[in-house]
Amino acid sequence: MGSTTKILITGGAGFIGSHVVRRFIKNYPSYQIYNLDKLTYAGNLENLRDIDKSPNYHFIKGDIVDSEFIQQLFSEHDFDGIIHLAAESHVDRSIANPIEFVMTNVVGTVNLLNAARKGDKKRRFYHISTDEVYGSLGTSGLFSEQTKYDPHSPYSASKASSDHFVRAYYDTYGLDIVISNCSNNYGPNHFPEKLIPLSINNIRNNNALPVYGKGENVRDWLYVEDHASAIDLIYHKGKSGETYNVGGLNEWKNIDLIRFLCKTMDVKLGREIGTSERLITFVKDRAGHDLRYAIDASKLRNELGWKPSVTFEEGLEKTVEWYLRNTAWLDRVTSGEYRNYYEQQYTHR
Ligand code: NAD
Ligand code: TYD
Repeated sequence: MGSTTKILITGGAGFIGSHVVRRFIKNYPSYQIYNLDKLTYAGNLENLRDIDKSPNYHFIKGDIVDSEFIQQLFSEHDFDGIIHLAAESHVDRSIANPIEFVMTNVVGTVNLLNAARKGDKKRRFYHISTDEVYGSLGTSGLFSEQTKYDPHSPYSASKASSDHFVRAYYDTYGLDIVISNCSNNYGPNHFPEKLIPLSINNIRNNNALPVYGKGENVRDWLYVEDHASAIDLIYHKGKSGETYNVGGLNEWKNIDLIRFLCKTMDVKLGREIGTSERLITFVKDRAGHDLRYAIDASKLRNELGWKPSVTFEEGLEKTVEWYLRNTAWLDRVTSGEYRNYYEQQYTHR
């Protein structure tokens, strides 16, 4: 790719997107990186403060659901590639308000696909998806790229739908696409509504730790920087039209993970071991709660040579340390004030 390569990263102010933007800014100084983000409750420009003065970084505030705006943006910039992470991402919110998930995850993705296929330029469209499209596993087996789609939540149904559209644009219009389906991520800058950051924040504040059902559901956890390294590799080396599963072979039952986190936090906070565990509170189960997710990432390992850099224990330690060093970040994002602050600095379009 030449010296003027322009890459559009959507959702770059969110959890995973901010790690992807940082990695691309640092590893590819010759690329111009455009971060397009609506700055919903989950988007936070503070996540990128360390790189936002880089000469190859550009922020655009905007909504992928606005098709006219997206078309204009592509006419203005003629991007060489798109890495699409913008989404509504929380299952519980999708149960409460499914239509927003249809708008952003499905309509927003189709708007980007339409803009990406226009004109003569051959540009890569990389769609970041989730293992949740495959549904739920029993006690054994792994999701492979051949596993049949079987989404159960409005979130996973919207992501499955967007995946189908992306493949349809490859088959119908010959758009150069790649898709990856990743397992649960954890790490710095994760909004504290998801299990790990919520639990860290609640332990710190001595609040109850809500465990859905009996805590027997299993998730396969991957450190966010390892997801970013997989995205880098797939964007550059992935075969057009292909799907790659990404996961760390790190299965944890929720209750075991929370107990382990409680011990880690007790040590870090200088509390007597067992103190934080007393905060565990079993609550009503999530509707349609998938029992188990686990990824077979052997295609990515064998074909592109990817492997995670940290074990779960190392990644969790780094994560806890980051949150304890950044309690001001936690307090700001839970207060909601940060949104008003950034809203004043950027106007739509
Ligand atoms: P996130 O919720 O932290 O961030 C999403 C970002 O998208 C935010 O910055 C938000 O402001 C932006 N956004 C939302 N709606 C938008 C819109 N209409 N227009 C423009 N920007 C908008 O999400 P995340 O956890 O970083 O996930 C990123 C992507 O990775 C998503 O596509 C998600 O489905 C996928 N994924 C996430 C996980 C995970 O464990 N978090 C695992 C696998 C795949
Ligand atoms: P979450 O972090 O919301 O990710 P996902 O639903 O995409 O896997 O939840 C991870 C697991 O933790 C899931 O099985 C639901 C469960 N959970 C709780 O038990 N308590 C909580 O407060 C939350 C947010 C999740």
